[in-house]
Amino acid sequence: MNQKIFKPIRKAVFPVAGLGTRFLPATKSMPKEMLPLVDRPLIQHAFEEAREAGIEEFIFVTGRGKELLEEHFDYQPELEQTLESRGKFDMLEKVKTSEMPEGKLFLTRQPKPLGLGHAIWCAKKLIGDEPFAVMLPDDVFLSDTGCLKQMVDCYNEYGGNMMAVMDVPKEDTQKYGVLDIEDDDGKVAKIKGLVEKPKPEDAPSTLSIIGRYILQPEIFDYLSKFEKGAGGEIQLTDAIAHQIGKYPVNGFRFKGKRFDCGGRVGFIEANIAFSLKDKEIGEDVRKIIKSYEGKI
Ligand code: UTP
Repeated sequence: MNQKIFKPIRKAVFPVAGLGTRFLPATKSMPKEMLPLVDRPLIQHAFEEAREAGIEEFIFVTGRGKELLEEHFDYQPELEQTLESRGKFDMLEKVKTSEMPEGKLFLTRQPKPLGLGHAIWCAKKLIGDEPFAVMLPDDVFLSDTGCLKQMVDCYNEYGGNMMAVMDVPKEDTQKYGVLDIEDDDGKVAKIKGLVEKPKPEDAPSTLSIIGRYILQPEIFDYLSKFEKGAGGEIQLTDAIAHQIGKYPVNGFRFKGKRFDCGGRVGFIEANIAFSLKDKEIGEDVRKIIKSYEGKI
């Protein structure tokens, strides 16, 4: 087989500096990314998915009031000793899933939430000259293989820039970056253009970008211009659109179900789906849901 060798994806950027206004007042002093999905915060779901995909360095782009996010991944000696002395080894195992490998968490700050593109630019120095992943913790996946691992496997064949994509209802295109497709084999869609948040009547397709990306470091050339796009924000989609024609830019259809935990309905749906799959509480939750049928 004549397969090209691309630089491995070792680093992932987690932009977590947004305001999370859709969850106010819950997010007034607590980061949105700390909202729990069953038993672990959204950021931990993204962290575990990244580890599964072989990510070695975790870069958080944080802002004011986001300190809890780094603390969550710290070693907690008192807690671990207490659980051990009480023989609560199952809990101890759960706590250990949130430990960051030593020397692998890097923090940079975005002083003002000027947009996703600007948040990624804030990680420029930490990324250096290698391809990297971007993971929006708002997007959570139920799948046999994590979304990023699926993407990395595909990237190893295609290289270039790659975004996770899915078809959305036509009326929802104005919430997403939408693909203008040149070629589509049902798994990988070659992109000839990208439009950020188009009105349904202007959308070139319904295939839309969701929160997982693999990007080449050249993306920083455009981001460094600080050009504002849709909504007056510095948009990552615009920077990717500028790569078209210079580097491969592909959409990747992942296998599995994605939940938009950036809003209340998607977050509640994710909690239902993840709890139904949980070995300890799944049956109880199923009974509770059934008990509400036709009552409210
Ligand atoms: P969202 O578009 O969901 O924005 O950002 P938000 O501020 O978090 O939430 P709402 O819309 O006010 O409810 C998607 C991801 O990008 C990050 C967010 O933290 C989130 O993980 N982000 C967004 C930044 O880090 N900086 C920004 O300037 C914008």
